[in-house]
Amino acid sequence: MPIWYGGDYNPEQWTEETWDDDIRLMQRGGISMATVGVFSWAKLEPREGEFEFGWLDRVLDKLHAGGIRVDLATATASPPPWLTHRYPEVLPVTENGIRLYPGSRQQYCPSSPVYRRLAARLATAIVERYKDHPALELWHINNEYGCHVSRCYCDVSAEAFRVWLQAKYGTIAAFNEAWGTAFWSQRYGEFAEVYPPRAAPTLKNPTQLLDFDRFSSDELLECYRAEAAIVREVSPGVPVTTNFMGFFKPADYWKWAAEVDVVSDDAYPDPADPRSPAYAAMERDLMRSLRHGQPWLLMEQASSAVNWRKRNAPKGPGQQRALSYQSVARGADGILFFQWRQSVAGAEKFHSGLVPHAGTDTRVWREVEQLGGELAQLDRVAGSRVLAKTAIVFDWDSWWSIEQTATPAEISYVQNVFAWYAELWRRTVAVDFVRPIDDLSGYVLVIVPSLFAATGAAQKNLDAFAREGGTLLVTYQSVITDENAHITPGGYLGVLRETLGVWIEEFAPLAAPDLEATGVRPAPDIRVESELLGSSDAEIWAEYVHAPDAEVLAIFAEGALAGWPALTRNAVGSGAAWYVATQPAGEALGRLVVRLIDDAGVFGVVDIVPEGVEAVRRGELTFVINHSMASGVVALQGMDLATGAAVTEVSLEPQGVAILTTAS
Ligand code: GLA
Repeated sequence: MPIWYGGDYNPEQWTEETWDDDIRLMQRGGISMATVGVFSWAKLEPREGEFEFGWLDRVLDKLHAGGIRVDLATATASPPPWLTHRYPEVLPVTENGIRLYPGSRQQYCPSSPVYRRLAARLATAIVERYKDHPALELWHINNEYGCHVSRCYCDVSAEAFRVWLQAKYGTIAAFNEAWGTAFWSQRYGEFAEVYPPRAAPTLKNPTQLLDFDRFSSDELLECYRAEAAIVREVSPGVPVTTNFMGFFKPADYWKWAAEVDVVSDDAYPDPADPRSPAYAAMERDLMRSLRHGQPWLLMEQASSAVNWRKRNAPKGPGQQRALSYQSVARGADGILFFQWRQSVAGAEKFHSGLVPHAGTDTRVWREVEQLGGELAQLDRVAGSRVLAKTAIVFDWDSWWSIEQTATPAEISYVQNVFAWYAELWRRTVAVDFVRPIDDLSGYVLVIVPSLFAATGAAQKNLDAFAREGGTLLVTYQSVITDENAHITPGGYLGVLRETLGVWIEEFAPLAAPDLEATGVRPAPDIRVESELLGSSDAEIWAEYVHAPDAEVLAIFAEGALAGWPALTRNAVGSGAAWYVATQPAGEALGRLVVRLIDDAGVFGVVDIVPEGVEAVRRGELTFVINHSMASGVVALQGMDLATGAAVTEVSLEPQGVAILTTAS
């Protein structure tokens, strides 16, 4: 099986003469897969019910003749102007009641029956026409669901929300209980009285917000499901995907991933941000984890600059290659780009392409050719797996809940997760992401950053993991609410109070005071003291923790919290349960992570890597990738795939990549 190489191909932006050039150039560049038709609705169905497939027939035939496989889109990502002109009710409405108009893309309400009917008809027509086309490899449903319009507040959505709520709760009494409507005179007499959380005078009902997050993810998923069902019926046996967007808050990808045959993902790390390789690695690990280790596809990345940041840095020499190998190392069986030829018109004309405006006598094109040639030699990696003994719990309910307003402090859930991930990444420790209810028996270390909303089953599962010998670390702001956004009273933490041997009396977040209101400077971050962490800064959070059963390994060092536990460890069953009541800053976090991996018996792929270098083992291969601007040397024994030589260390140029076969 090959590693697929290619990208979005939008031939409708070009004359037919260009298409022949495209195929020749694709062959030169080693392109093996093209994603076609993503934004073709207006050209495929120029008038309602009238389809024009001739041009797409010719495109697919040419690709096939050129030996290029096709990831064919259902073309439903952006409705044509005639559609919303004739059916304006399809246009989505924001929280503030503003209707979003055509002239951009994705202007549809996910709950709209008109959109769904017309999308299904288009998808059916496409699938019926091309199901037996010899170039067809994969079906690409819609595109980046929810990227721009992840939720709609229109009347149609309101009605769909009511139906969803009724199905979930059954009775208005159960619904009132779950939404805590005894508060602020919010008791509802019937479902007809309920609305989406539209603009309101002040703080909104937290359960209303949470259920609307869930509903909105589900509504988009329904759109996907309807199209996937058509594909599966008419074109059985051909795999189905839709492209995800890394850590994307509006869609609960655990739920989504169960519905695709192969996970695919779009990745646009900022080339100007030195943290982006570690963050990008985290996103790639999420993608591998969503279907429990199954190889996935990098569906989109940029060959160089994007066009949608305030300042769009180009990728530096070798950066595109290094980031592509990062994906391969972390489980990708395909490296694709947006888009093949850089546009000359439209909102993305400054977005890089594989064929830049300046043509093929360019660094970008030479790098495209180089990578194409290299990936063609890497068949052996396709299908192989990454083995991780460490897992980080990631949970969309907690993400949605912790970032609501009217919480003790503003917290970024993903940044909190990233703080832990980054320390493991620097130590080349392989990490899987898991749901709190997943089978954890394959792991020895599980980190639980701010699992704010936790079901009883989740709590029991984490408890059992520690008791059965695992090393469990739980951070502040975990098990604060249940699945209905209701507090878990009695010292928070639910069942984990027993596991961790601690309970929490009061929160003391290290939030800066509201400067506008008080004019007071932000309070300095607090310090913690301990043998393990040293005397170091702590960030974001503090709280009053009682540790009746646990060993206290660090205390807060100053202010009202002086002497209170900041880090605890409880021996439980045959394992250990750690609790950290703050975010240790800088090297202290690293020291804590080292202690955890030592205790759990986890090893990195290599002992030491220079700053900015990552190492990942996938199957029998070890990838060492240098994302920094400095050369580096890494001690590692194996056979260098590029030279066939046995080595005991690898030297890496800036953005350099080494691939070794190593004994595991
Ligand atoms: C997304 C979309 C593409 C394109 C790129 C640009 O990933 O799916 O159509 O707009 O962004 O970065």
